Amino acid sequence: MKDILIQLIVILLRYSSVNERPHEVWSRSLQKQDTLLYQENNESMQLNLAQTRDNKYITITSVSRLCSEVRLLPLSMDMSCSPALVKEAGTNNYYYIDSAHDRLYILTNYLQENSNFQLMTASYGCSSRWEPFYIPDSNFILQDIELFNSFIVMYGNTRDPTLPVIIINNIKNETFHKIVLKDFTYVQKASNNYLSEAIKLTASSVISPPKHITISHEGDISFKNKTNFKLHLKHLKAKAKDGVMIPITLFYDSKRIELNGSNPMLMIAYGCHGVSLYTGYDETLLPLIRRGWILAYCHIRGGGELGRQWYFDAVKEKKLNSFNDLIYCANHLHRTGYSSPQLTALYGRSSGSLSVAGVCNIDPEITKAVILEMPLVNLMDNLLNGNHYINAMDSEEFGDPNMEGVVESICPFHNLRKQNYPSFLITASTIDPLVMYSSVERYVKRLKDCIEQYRATSVSDCHTEGMKRGTVIFHKETDSSHYWADSSAIQKQALLKLNFLINAVQRG
Ligand SMILES: *[C@@H]1O[C@H](CO)[C@@H](O)[C@H](O)[C@H]1NC(C)=O
Ligand SMILES: *[C@@H]1O[C@H](CO)[C@@H](O)[C@H](O)[C@H]1NC(C)=O
Ligand SMILES: *[C@@H]1O[C@H](CO)[C@@H](O)[C@H](O)[C@H]1NC(C)=O
Ligand SMILES: *[C@@H]1O[C@H](CO)[C@@H](O)[C@H](O)[C@H]1NC(C)=O
Repeated sequence: MKDILIQLIVILLRYSSVNERPHEVWSRSLQKQDTLLYQENNESMQLNLAQTRDNKYITITSVSRLCSEVRLLPLSMDMSCSPALVKEAGTNNYYYIDSAHDRLYILTNYLQENSNFQLMTASYGCSSRWEPFYIPDSNFILQDIELFNSFIVMYGNTRDPTLPVIIINNIKNETFHKIVLKDFTYVQKASNNYLSEAIKLTASSVISPPKHITISHEGDISFKNKTNFKLHLKHLKAKAKDGVMIPITLFYDSKRIELNGSNPMLMIAYGCHGVSLYTGYDETLLPLIRRGWILAYCHIRGGGELGRQWYFDAVKEKKLNSFNDLIYCANHLHRTGYSSPQLTALYGRSSGSLSVAGVCNIDPEITKAVILEMPLVNLMDNLLNGNHYINAMDSEEFGDPNMEGVVESICPFHNLRKQNYPSFLITASTIDPLVMYSSVERYVKRLKDCIEQYRATSVSDCHTEGMKRGTVIFHKETDSSHYWADSSAIQKQALLKLNFLINAVQRG
């Protein structure tokens, strides 16, 4: 007779009870007491847990805003091995690990500080000795990989213009297929099976709904075309203050647009955490397109569009690059007739509002209206008094609020002054765990004071129709938060924004 022992082991990621930081990995089984496998003590790092594509390892990745390090835990019957560190975190270097085909794949910029990602490989036995596998040329920004049993998919974008690209590498005969998805701006992996012979993804843009696309491992594309959309998508570049070219993606209805400066325009920017601006489908913006608006997505520094360097070029005192990039994007769009300052609105959400509110302090007359949602406009207050672990991570990106003058110099609240501000719609949530409601309230109060002081000493605006410049609408959310809102809240917020934009810009 043979015994069959059924072993059930669960690997758990635990969050700190003090600040919700994911900081410990535990194993739990029926037979034994819970055991701690790894604990991350560095407050500015959080843990991510994943299983590799070939099911050989669990990866425990410690990530901060500036660097990462990975520990590998071999999957075995009893999970008795302890996690082994692959390489110690560098200063400004990231690496992520996955495994397949009897080797590790490492997506990293470790070899050269601040450089863009490359793909390296290593053997299981010698995980710290990395060999180059794919070094992208300068016009391909590698962002992500997906491993399959017989091929590898690399996701990224071209540099000029920023178009989504996927590269498929057949590992048997080492052929590479490069596919540029030029009608789209946003590509999302579907949950693909490791053994699959084809790649499924969805591709969309701000004004075109997600399309399901299947690409064979030899690079043949098939679409399911249900609706034939008419896409008005244009890629531009604006020269920044220091000569760097900033990509801009425009969406509009070309039948309604003449480049004579009389089109209303909404400029959208993020430029933080090395995260690329979201350019997927957004139904709530279609009413603006139908009313002849231009949507201008400005890929300012601080985001991830052009790789890691693009991010590091807007960290700490270099954060001003994000602000100036946005100003230069606006100037370029105004000069080339897409719009004009009195027909322009700016939009920033969360950390993206740093740049938008920063621009309003530097050059308030560049825009007519501004929307700030759940905004990090009182950076100093949040870094000092917010008790979330995100603050430790954010200090690495924005500067230490206790030490340097850096945070003060980039904090929108600290740079408010008496001047001709545009109109604002500001929303903040009382249950937002990231941006403190009270910090936004203080910003709104000081903004209103500055506007009052300016009005008291200036000749008043003689417009009678529409919204008076410098109107501040503060909207308090009580039942939706930073990352979630139910569909009725989303609709209400969308209507609020549309009404504001049309009243402040089109009727102003
Ligand atoms: C914590 O990690 C950061 C990198 O994210 C590093 O700069 C810092 O020195 C680490 N602190 C300690 C105490 O190891
Ligand atoms: C590479 O291998 C695939 C099948 O795995 C085959 O379809 C393709 O034609 C091969 N390409 C070359 C250039 O040999
Ligand atoms: C689907 O639509 C796109 C864009 O309109 C077009 O380029 C493509 O050829 C269409 N594909 C099929 C299979 O009809
Ligand atoms: C710009 O073009 C539009 C559309 O042709 C027209 O209605 C508008 O009057 C023009 N504005 C200026 C300032 O020329």
